[in-house]
Amino acid sequence: MNKLRIALTKGRLEKDTVLLLEQLGYDCEAVKNKGRKLVLPIKNTNIEVVLAKANDVITYVENGVCDIGVVGKDTIMEMGGQFYEVLDLGYGRCRFAVAAPRGCRFYDGFEVKRIATKYPAVARRFFEGKCMDVDIVKIEGSVELAPILGLSDAIVDIVETGTTLKENGLEVIEEVADISARMIVNIASMKLKKPEIEELLTKIESFRKGKTA
Ligand code: PRP
Repeated sequence: MNKLRIALTKGRLEKDTVLLLEQLGYDCEAVKNKGRKLVLPIKNTNIEVVLAKANDVITYVENGVCDIGVVGKDTIMEMGGQFYEVLDLGYGRCRFAVAAPRGCRFYDGFEVKRIATKYPAVARRFFEGKCMDVDIVKIEGSVELAPILGLSDAIVDIVETGTTLKENGLEVIEEVADISARMIVNIASMKLKKPEIEELLTKIESFRKGKTA
């Protein structure tokens, strides 16, 4: 049996994915007690789990050093790449939105607006789709700070509960896209390790059917 290497996005998606794997019957003890280890075996299987940052999950899968990846649609929309997106896993749900200081009438006026974001490609595509010229400033985190400090008129960012926006005097102006965790597969692996990959996908699908039945 071929070895399957799965890259998991560290953090929020990691927990939900481990839970899913456990519900499928996989022994995830090594992943749960990983310490500082980054490559973890799933006991009594041909599966190995790798923990990585979201962008790196895509890089590893694209380059074929991991066969499968679990990554947010936000990262896929920003990075793109050559791989198959095979499954919407249904967890890690949130949305991309344009947000601005409460009551600011963001779309008024003719001056070029400045947008701060961790996702410049997503923001650029969104405003291009509206034929709206904007300046985009790339920020690495806590993007909500940019309009507060006066660096930008608005942000394009992930909204989950809306608490961060609310507590910082911002509001959603417009929704950009829904986001959730996706399973991606390397193009060559899909051919070379078809039975192993199909077995995992079938397990996930029948588990979900069982849940909704
Ligand atoms: C994300 C996002 C928002 C926040 C939204 O940030 O960029 O800041 O979560 O969540 P909420 O709607 O539930 O408040 P993250 O925690 O990933 O940190 P970062 O901004 O430093 O990247």
